Amino acid sequence: MSPATLLRNALRVLIPLAVACTFYLYLYPIFLGCAFPLPQTDDNVAAFQDTLRQHVLSDSSKAAPFRLLALGDPQLEGDTSIRNYDRESFPHLTWAIRHLTYQTEQPSLRKRLRQVVHDIVDIFFDDIPDTLESIRKRIDLFGNDFYLAHIYRTLRWWTKPTHVTVLGDLLGSQWIKEKEFNRRSWRFWNRSFKGGERVPDEVATYPAEEYDPAGLLGIEDENAAAWRRRIINVAGNHDIGYAGDLTVERLERFERAFGKAAYELRFELPITNPAANATIYNEETNPSSNRLAPELRILNVNNMNLDTPAADQSLQDKTYAFVNDVINTATAVEYQGHFTVVLTHIPLYKPEGVCVDGPFFDFHAGGGVKEQNHLSADASRGFLEGIFGLNGDPNAPGHGLGRKGVVLNGHDHEGCDTYHYINQTEEGDERQWRVIRWPAAKADQLPGKPGVPGLREITVRSMMAMYGGYAGLLSVWFDEDTWEWKFEFATCALGRQYFWWFVHILDLIVLVAIVIYGVLQTAVAAGFNVDKWTGEKVAPPPATANGNGVKKPVDVANGEAKRE
Ligand SMILES: *[C@@H]1O[C@H](CO)[C@@H](O)[C@H](O)[C@H]1NC(C)=O
Ligand SMILES: *[C@@H]1O[C@H](CO)[C@@H](O)[C@H](O)[C@H]1NC(C)=O
Ligand SMILES: *[C@@H]1O[C@H](CO)[C@@H](O)[C@H](O)[C@H]1NC(C)=O
Repeated sequence: MSPATLLRNALRVLIPLAVACTFYLYLYPIFLGCAFPLPQTDDNVAAFQDTLRQHVLSDSSKAAPFRLLALGDPQLEGDTSIRNYDRESFPHLTWAIRHLTYQTEQPSLRKRLRQVVHDIVDIFFDDIPDTLESIRKRIDLFGNDFYLAHIYRTLRWWTKPTHVTVLGDLLGSQWIKEKEFNRRSWRFWNRSFKGGERVPDEVATYPAEEYDPAGLLGIEDENAAAWRRRIINVAGNHDIGYAGDLTVERLERFERAFGKAAYELRFELPITNPAANATIYNEETNPSSNRLAPELRILNVNNMNLDTPAADQSLQDKTYAFVNDVINTATAVEYQGHFTVVLTHIPLYKPEGVCVDGPFFDFHAGGGVKEQNHLSADASRGFLEGIFGLNGDPNAPGHGLGRKGVVLNGHDHEGCDTYHYINQTEEGDERQWRVIRWPAAKADQLPGKPGVPGLREITVRSMMAMYGGYAGLLSVWFDEDTWEWKFEFATCALGRQYFWWFVHILDLIVLVAIVIYGVLQTAVAAGFNVDKWTGEKVAPPPATANGNGVKKPVDVANGEAKRE
């Protein structure tokens, strides 16, 4: 078989394989049936069909007006994970040469030679493995940027979120120097989250009594388009450090590159039905109503320094002031129609065994939180009882049932979906916050049970390749009958990085093979004997009888015909 034929046969198999794999990879959310949950139904098929409809027909969708693509812990790594970064690759080779060329002090030739032999051994046992591992890591990091980009780009295209958030640990280390920080933020914005934009500072507002909405939901305008591009970045421990590491410099560089670390966004949902609209509270015309104009309050809370001791007390005071102002500017719990989405990094406290990470705290020798898996129980109550106004006391305002909402966070790369609740009928010490997994809470019909205030907390599984490239899809919609916001959450996982690499390498091989095949065919068409170049056996010219070395020309046409 000639090389061209061989290639043609290989391509017959490889092209369909490459096309099928590429299709699957680039359309993976479609093959996996990923979609934002639809309002008022848990029918996944209907949700998928509705997403498809949005791509085909523009305005017949029943999709929720707020659809948040939530991504956990991308953790872009860099120099700190490359072994030979910023040093030479073969230090022992350099030393061996120095010893050999008398550039070093040695008492005797014997010792000099001994050093050389040592260095040569180290080249094989240290330098070469180190260099290979560093090259592997560099390739891995490079591919990882695009693997993450693939998740963001593909899901943003297919699922059509109205908002996007990255729930902290955008970067892999808080210890990196300025130069590396800039390099990673360049990779974040120009590679992994290309097309995304930082939330502008003037939009990311501090909680206040008087505010302008950040946008209107369910209305297609320029502002809605801007929100589809923006990424609500949460500050994580690997971005700015835990309380014991958090300094003004670390916070400033994060905010400069990724947006503010603490702010609120209020989105309003216009009510188009005049009868429903007329039931809304109004100081003059409708003072007895407890219905507020529907509003979604998104709180980006930096919870890195809620626990003590903190390295910078004034930064911690600011965080506490922020949380207090969030509480003071919230509407009274008795009113209906507002919904709070808390985006933060560290999960709330929960006992061992509920999620993969159990409670864990570590402190620097000189004081200062060095590491933590959860917030402390006290700081967690600040969320449950403060921001959400939930209370174990049935005589508390609003019977302790609090505000509607959900907490989204990251940090525990494994992900977890839980329900925090407190049983108001329990007595004394028995009456305390408890946490169970969401499916169990739903099975027990805990959410909404009278006398049992509660809140769902979703820890979004990491989008890192080793955790399967997950993404969360949170839909929030408004039910005009009950005057309540409702929400549901789904996930979509690309899978580990191997398939991503496989498809791109396969595509590359196929492209190169096609080019080579084209060149071979062109060469044959131009009259070259292609077989001769590739070393395939061509009958040697028989020596002439008189041995004078005159060679007979080879019959190209015949040779080809015989081999085919
Ligand atoms: C992204 O790349 C552009 C063009 O090279 C550059 O101007 C911009 O600063 C980059 N963004 C970041 C965050 O580094
Ligand atoms: C709803 O009522 C408010 C007054 O409470 C009014 O300003 C607004 O225009 C009404 N919206 C619609 C769609 O009727
Ligand atoms: C709440 O506590 C009461 C009294 O201890 C108990 O009867 C009830 O089953 C509890 N409810 C839940 C949902 O745990």
